[in-house]
Amino acid sequence: MRAKATIQANPFKPTAGKMPPILVGREDIIVDFSDGLVNGAGAPGRLMLISGQRGFGKTVLLTELARIAEAYGWLTVRETAAQGMCDRIVRALGGTGPHVTGVDLDPSVDIAGVAGARLGRVSVSLPSSLDIRDAASRRFRHMRPGTGILFTVDETQAARRDELVAIATAVQHVIADQDMTNVSDAEKHGVALVLAGLPSMMDDLVNDEVLTFLRRAMRQDLGPVMVPDVRNAYQQSVADSGLHIGDEEALAAARASLGYPYLVQLVGYYMWQSARRRKSGVIEMADVERATQDAGIAFQDAVCAPAYKGLTSAQRTFLTMMAQDWPNPSNVSEVARRAGRSRSWASKYRESLIRAHMIEGLGDGLVEYAIPYLGEYLTR
Ligand SMILES: Nc1ncnc2c1ncn2[C@@H]1O[C@H](COP(=O)(O)OP(=O)(O)OP(=O)(O)O)[C@@H](O)[C@H]1O
Ligand SMILES: [Mg+2]
Repeated sequence: MRAKATIQANPFKPTAGKMPPILVGREDIIVDFSDGLVNGAGAPGRLMLISGQRGFGKTVLLTELARIAEAYGWLTVRETAAQGMCDRIVRALGGTGPHVTGVDLDPSVDIAGVAGARLGRVSVSLPSSLDIRDAASRRFRHMRPGTGILFTVDETQAARRDELVAIATAVQHVIADQDMTNVSDAEKHGVALVLAGLPSMMDDLVNDEVLTFLRRAMRQDLGPVMVPDVRNAYQQSVADSGLHIGDEEALAAARASLGYPYLVQLVGYYMWQSARRRKSGVIEMADVERATQDAGIAFQDAVCAPAYKGLTSAQRTFLTMMAQDWPNPSNVSEVARRAGRSRSWASKYRESLIRAHMIEGLGDGLVEYAIPYLGEYLTR
């Protein structure tokens, strides 16, 4: 007879950056990245730009990619964009840190042959770039052939441009340095760079005339995950934790998550709690319903509120004027009329809110909220 599984702790992790029990629907990206590591210097997956809205799983995906790189014997250097990132990278690589800090050099100045001619008029902290390059080559001497260094940068949209330029330049130079060596591609030391950030950063990055190198990066835009995959993940995670959930209940919960990764964890967490509070080992439909409500409120606080507060007051006015139509879409001219503003005011803020991924244009002058629960939040 099979022993009854003991009940474990709640497996769901509705917390920013916390690895979920099952990483749903990111298999393709993981395969692209792993292929990049295996296929040697020049493989596409070694240079990746990951974009996604808040709560779509950028940070946990970076964690997973770093875990994979380490399993292949690579060294990983993980950074969250904030001033001083380059210095921290150099230190993480075991370098002594920059000899000159805080000095932006005129790119026309030639340092060790890495002149800023290609860097145009921008002012770049070249010492950081050189220090990263030097520190990386020193590390390579102690690493197995074929392995390399993975750099990940989270919250790239908040990075200083000169620091990104320094990192990208260093990565390019390390690749070029390795190309000059006399070993086979399979034996060369590699370097991989994965940048993650909000979708707004993408266009800036790939259109930047200095960061042209990033135009060749593999772009991965994180969208919602598939409902059937969420259902399967719920069933497995719940079973692993010693509880049970039926097919219908798991599907209802997966639908309630809308495939939004953060909501997947919230709904999972609350349905599990709800069953345990009843001292039951089975998650029932009533638990799923209660969880959907609790998850909605938590989502409004954690995602809708900060997204809304981060907008300009004109953008907020636009969104608020849409609320009385919700859950139906709004007409842009009508939004302008309610706000007592012109049509051109409305079309300007329509554009800016679409770019911020707060609303979606439906054609025919109609718009609707693009973030789940934003309508509930604004009518609350
Ligand atoms: N693929 C996934 N499957 C299931 N849950 C996921 C997945 N990706 C992320 N999550 C969960 O979603 C939540 C948000 O993940 P994460 O913090 O990585 O998002 P993010 O995109 O970095 O958000 P932010 O922009 O706010 O930093 C976490 O609770 C995490 O466990
Ligand atoms: Mg994050």
